[in-house]
Amino acid sequence: MFNNLNIVIGITGGIAAYKACGIINYLKKEGANVDVIMTNNACKFITPLTIETLSGNKVVCDMFETPDYIDVKHISLANKADLFLIVPATANIIGKVANGIADDMLSTTIMATKSKVVFALAMNNGMYENKIVQDNIKKLKEYGYYFIEPAYGHLACGTNAKGKLAKSEDIINYVKVLVK
Ligand SMILES: Cc1cc2nc3c(=O)[nH]c(=O)nc-3n(C[C@H](O)[C@H](O)[C@H](O)COP(=O)(O)O)c2cc1C
Repeated sequence: MFNNLNIVIGITGGIAAYKACGIINYLKKEGANVDVIMTNNACKFITPLTIETLSGNKVVCDMFETPDYIDVKHISLANKADLFLIVPATANIIGKVANGIADDMLSTTIMATKSKVVFALAMNNGMYENKIVQDNIKKLKEYGYYFIEPAYGHLACGTNAKGKLAKSEDIINYVKVLVK
């Protein structure tokens, strides 16, 4: 299904960051080449080592890290992506992209890519319901960005509400439709 497809995954700093591992594993097994960009905050939730082991590729976190060879990473990954999936996507990354902010490797690469970009949202329900976040989502949808809505369920903050990352199988099915 994913043979020869280059999928770039962005991982941001949410409690659901560990769930990206299963998705990366699945995409790899199905034949995709998976490159991963993690925000610095994502690295507080899961380690680049885990993601490098699962993806088989070096994880990019720091925009200003000296490259091993001449390769402007945010441009090369932006051009390479057949699909860009941000999982989980924080309120922060949505806010940054919606407002043209490119201040780290992930937001800069999203800004540079011409591929389809999918945000799989996950956040506390207060954040999700915040009008600013909702406006940012609406704006990005109008620009052609794709969204996988969060699910209802038990959130890390202890409440039962909408904000949980969608089930991995639903995220994968969404991606399958987009790359067809
Ligand atoms: C334990 C913990 C869990 C968090 N979970 C989320 C989350 O699920 N969604 C979210 O939008 N922010 C969450 N945050 C807040 C983000 O980490 C924070 O907004 C951060 O600036 C996001 O940075 P990034 O988008 O660059 O990764 C969490 C913070 C902590 C300490």
